[in-house]
Amino acid sequence: MMKIVRHIYPVFDQLVSRDSKEWLLQQRARVIWFTGLSGSGKTTIARDVEKVLYEMGHMTMLLDGDNVRAGINNNLGFSPDDRCENIRRIAEAAKLFLDCGIITLCCFVSPTEELRQLAAEIIGPKDFIEVYVNTSIEECERRDVKGLYAKARKGEIPDFTGISAPFEPPANPAFEIKTEGRSEEECVQELLKFLVPLLQHEGVL
Ligand code: ADX
Repeated sequence: MMKIVRHIYPVFDQLVSRDSKEWLLQQRARVIWFTGLSGSGKTTIARDVEKVLYEMGHMTMLLDGDNVRAGINNNLGFSPDDRCENIRRIAEAAKLFLDCGIITLCCFVSPTEELRQLAAEIIGPKDFIEVYVNTSIEECERRDVKGLYAKARKGEIPDFTGISAPFEPPANPAFEIKTEGRSEEECVQELLKFLVPLLQHEGVL
């Protein structure tokens, strides 16, 4: 018969608490919220960060337009109301991961203070780490990785952030990455230097 070894993983409540899960994973969960223009490098940087965190033994989840707008939010567009619902659902989902002890990297344009404030309120300000990937509109348009800026300029995409819809730079981000004139590696290393201490578990429950 299978023996259930209870004493290895301390559980004090009937519910397995976030604290217990963080202990199990030996990390402190946070939501790292990347904001910036389309094509600024949010997902690229977050993926590199995730890879290093994995190699350090951390459990992470990355949410971005590719996996969220294609799935749970595939009924949403880019009107102000839809962007708000997009961010609300993402923040709620991120909070669930947080409660599971998982470090969650969210990469969304989230173009206004109001939207980012909404996310911070849902997640809880203590667990919300705002990272501003600061790449100018000129540079994003020059890179135009997905060809969307060219389309937006031709008027083929309405309400395109930075062209025909606003982007408000965050007033007081926890961390800002200026990507222009700097290597991807440099940006990632700097961010990791800031983030890693915030994710360390003290080792005891
Ligand atoms: S948000 O404004 O609601 O936070 P989100 O990050 O989910 O936006 O999606 C942005 C991505 O959707 C962009 O990187 C781009 O690839 C694509 N996109 C398509 N239409 C638009 C648009 N009108 N404005 C901004 N991004 C758009």
